[in-house]
Amino acid sequence: MTTLVEHAAHTPLTPVTSPTFTRPRSRRADLRRWQDGPTPASLADLAALTREVAAEVAAGHHPVEVDPRHRWSRRLHADDHLDVWLISWATDQAAELHDHGGSLGALTVVRGSLTEWRWTAGREDDDTCAAEELLARGPGLRRRALDPGRSVAFGLGHVHDVSNRAAETAVSVHAYSPPLSAMSYYGVEGGVLRRTRSELVEPGRSPE
Ligand SMILES: [Fe+2]
Repeated sequence: MTTLVEHAAHTPLTPVTSPTFTRPRSRRADLRRWQDGPTPASLADLAALTREVAAEVAAGHHPVEVDPRHRWSRRLHADDHLDVWLISWATDQAAELHDHGGSLGALTVVRGSLTEWRWTAGREDDDTCAAEELLARGPGLRRRALDPGRSVAFGLGHVHDVSNRAAETAVSVHAYSPPLSAMSYYGVEGGVLRRTRSELVEPGRSPE
């Protein structure tokens, strides 16, 4: 898991290695390893990996571009188990409400601030959200601010949208395992989450 498929020659990428991806030594370890879904990576592994790569980005090892028309992204790593992406978000650039198919995911914000709306089916969480915003979005969606250094992980069934509502460009590092192969998109009607379409994700296509 050290092959790098894309990086600039002057910005060497530290090989993405994680001892947690090595072959398990025991049945007990194997059970722990697969506990979060269809991959030996756990959500904690993916979050840790995005933090490591985010530190590389912050140190200037990976050039970041900004496209005012579309979200800019670059795949930093790809193998059979894992995709790692660098994404920049100009002001008001956003993803639709979506899931990640059969993949687990995680992101770490390098700089700027992202806003995530996630489907919680009305469950409470630890963030505050103005009543008018909840009213506008409808019940079931909750907002959380993803500030620099914040990492979040996405288990199976996690539905969210992410956007940059700040004046400053945001930069984030995302990891998906297995690599994204399908995604579904959603709307909320009357407090009910409804899938509007599903798409196959071509290898190398920018993630959401
Ligand atoms: Fe996502």
